[in-house]
Amino acid sequence: MDSKQMVLVTGASTGFGRLIAETLARHGHTVFATMRDPGGRNSKNAEEIRALAKRESLHLQVLELDVTDDASVERAVRSVVEQAGRIDVAINNAGYVLAGLAEAATTEQAQRIMDTNFFGAVRVNRAVLPQMRRQRGGLLLHISSGAGRVVIQSFGFYCASKFALEALAESYHYELAAQGIESSIVEPGAYQTPILGNIVRAADQERTETYGAAKAIAGKVSGVLTAAAGNAQEVADAVLQIVETPAGQKKLRYRVSAASLGVDEINAVSESVQAKVLEVFGLAGDTAYVHRSAAGAS
Ligand SMILES: NC(=O)c1ccc[n+]([C@@H]2O[C@H](COP(=O)([O-])OP(=O)(O)OC[C@H]3O[C@@H](n4cnc5c(N)ncnc54)[C@H](OP(=O)(O)O)[C@@H]3O)[C@@H](O)[C@H]2O)c1
Repeated sequence: MDSKQMVLVTGASTGFGRLIAETLARHGHTVFATMRDPGGRNSKNAEEIRALAKRESLHLQVLELDVTDDASVERAVRSVVEQAGRIDVAINNAGYVLAGLAEAATTEQAQRIMDTNFFGAVRVNRAVLPQMRRQRGGLLLHISSGAGRVVIQSFGFYCASKFALEALAESYHYELAAQGIESSIVEPGAYQTPILGNIVRAADQERTETYGAAKAIAGKVSGVLTAAAGNAQEVADAVLQIVETPAGQKKLRYRVSAASLGVDEINAVSESVQAKVLEVFGLAGDTAYVHRSAAGAS
């Protein structure tokens, strides 16, 4: 496989997705920066990306992709394959935060966050995998979170969506290894992106009011995360390093943050427990890439 990759990134209008798209393109990769509504709400972001691509002669282009819409995902993937002939890397980055007491989130809000943060990756992975299988290689990269491994009060549905994403990505990691397709997970800590300014609040105010002092936890946590937030370019640089790691040598999990907050410990325990689980089911020998260390990216 050529060392320069054909990459699709979801949620590339702002934040990590935008930085990942620009960073990979600046390192010679061909990048499809996908986003919702590039002709409307995201037209300024789309134009800025196109202008950058022109100014710096990058192989970087914008495509419409709403991860909650099957037809939109399939259209975008078809367009990448028609134009580039292959897809080497799919980066499942699109996501948002729903915060507030778990009981105060409506069922519809709970479904909506799963539809983006979890089913979004389900749709994208199902759309790209037949092409990766034809190529006999590829990488599914999942932008999870430290909140995919530890639970933060008042961020319960966000954590649930990322825990679900972690389980799916790990399952793919085992199941696809024999076909030469890798599945890895990035677990960022808090970073400066628009995400905390775009938090969706749990809508049931009446339920929230019954909690007394606990109803202030979401605000307190957001304050701590904002104060701790690092430079988001660190995550884009880590993704570049992962994408450029030779096939077959990538780890399952990469924590990216200044502090582990226990995520490394959980990953280490999980790795040895999963090894035993594979053994119990007589599957340990079936997977080519299992048990690569889960410690930080650097
Ligand atoms: N920043 C952090 O501290 C942090 C830490 C850990 C993990 N993460 C994860 O990193 C990922 C990127 O977040 P960010 O921090 O870079 O925040 P961000 O700047 O708000 O980016 C989120 C992106 O997801 C997109 N998106 C939301 N719903 C979508 C949909 N239905 N279809 C397509 N795109 C959609 C947004 O697009 P629109 O512009 O159309 O809304 C935006 O481009 C998320 O999965 C987040 O959970 C962030």
